[in-house]
Amino acid sequence: MAGKYQAPRGTADIVPAPYAKEPVFEVHRWQAAEQVFRQVAGLYGYQEVRTPIFEDLDLFLRTSGETSDIVSKEMYDFTDKGGRHVALRPEGTAPAMRAYIEHPMGGQGVVTRLGYFGPVFRYNRPQKGRYRQFHQAGYELIGSPSPLADAEIIDVTVRFFHLMGLADVVVKVNSIGRGETRADYERAVLQHVGGWMADQDGETRAKAEKNPLRLLDTKDPDLRRVLDGLPSILGFLGDESKVSFEALQGHLREQGTAFEVDDSIVRGLDYYTDTVFEVVSAEFGALCGGGRYDGLVEQLGGPSTPSVGVGIGVERALHVAELAGQAAKPKVATRWYVVAATEAARDAARGLARELRARGAGCSLDLDGRSVKAQFKQADRNGAVLAAVIGDDELAAGTVSVKDLVTGEQKTLPHDVVLRIADD
Ligand code: HAM
Repeated sequence: MAGKYQAPRGTADIVPAPYAKEPVFEVHRWQAAEQVFRQVAGLYGYQEVRTPIFEDLDLFLRTSGETSDIVSKEMYDFTDKGGRHVALRPEGTAPAMRAYIEHPMGGQGVVTRLGYFGPVFRYNRPQKGRYRQFHQAGYELIGSPSPLADAEIIDVTVRFFHLMGLADVVVKVNSIGRGETRADYERAVLQHVGGWMADQDGETRAKAEKNPLRLLDTKDPDLRRVLDGLPSILGFLGDESKVSFEALQGHLREQGTAFEVDDSIVRGLDYYTDTVFEVVSAEFGALCGGGRYDGLVEQLGGPSTPSVGVGIGVERALHVAELAGQAAKPKVATRWYVVAATEAARDAARGLARELRARGAGCSLDLDGRSVKAQFKQADRNGAVLAAVIGDDELAAGTVSVKDLVTGEQKTLPHDVVLRIADD
């Protein structure tokens, strides 16, 4: 039954299990992932924020970065009917910080922990695990300069993956420094790739000069060769950055986080300072990305507010959980299906449905006078586990026949006993 329209390229409908085109788009898996998001938020004290899915374009240009592909090439931006230039959010951190300042949630010496779960948009080439609309679960720890904050965010990240059924994730951490020492390293990178730069067009050169670190996560094989032998950024860190990075590693060891230092992690957004980290899978690339962004709140007109956070790619987490055989099982939301076995029993069937729902027991029923066979078929499609059947005999006796749809076992019980079962 192909209709005239399909979900736009790079997007997917999330639908009940029997209808999903791919297992990761079965809605019960998303409900489970949202549950994990909330459970982790509760375990560490992160409060949820829900920001609009579009913002002033300028918010992203100023923060996430004019030199990042995410902002310069991949944004869904448009001018609305009022002439405002807006963009569908390409990430969650800048909107969360905008909201943090707007309300305002912070203050001198106050630490604020925020979480969010929702769609983000990037106009890139769709492929396995890469979409144009995808979802991020994000956690932001705002207002602490301590490496303990970085360690907490990494712990939160690992906890999220554990609760998704992924026990063995390894976190890759790096420090990209800040200020003068970062500028020294950027000069060293530009010097190292000087010959290559001379052969590039003006736009590529300008972008590289604005943010040389972005060259380090290139997939261009020529540039990769050129980058061979480049000294590590870790050798350039200033004293404060070095001390923080050492302290972070100490805290990670103490809390039992499996991690490795990987000096090739540089991240694709412009706001990072010092700590950056990712969890990477062979099949789907980065499952999450995060780090410290001490200058972002100030950039948005707020007070100096050192902060650290993570964005987890929900589709990718679900893909990996599926591969690992750790997918969530469907939960039965609507346990009962009330079957009217005869025309005369239809009123009583509706009455029983009302009584079940009044007790908080989910139930569904046929509204169109379908055959008993069709009603049982519908019960199956709904995922019901119990059918409450009322026919002429049950009507006369004040009973209900309850059929277990999994085992096939059937018992005829007094009406009030059935209601008591529903209470359990
Ligand atoms: P990001 O690394 O750009 O960071 O995105 C986070 C995660 O989103 C990625 O690691 C990946 O799992 C997922 N992701 C990115 N692009 C796609 C795509 N096209 N399709 C499917 N999944 C994708 C951020 O967005 C930062 N805001 C993270 C952060 C929060 N940093 C500090 N706080």
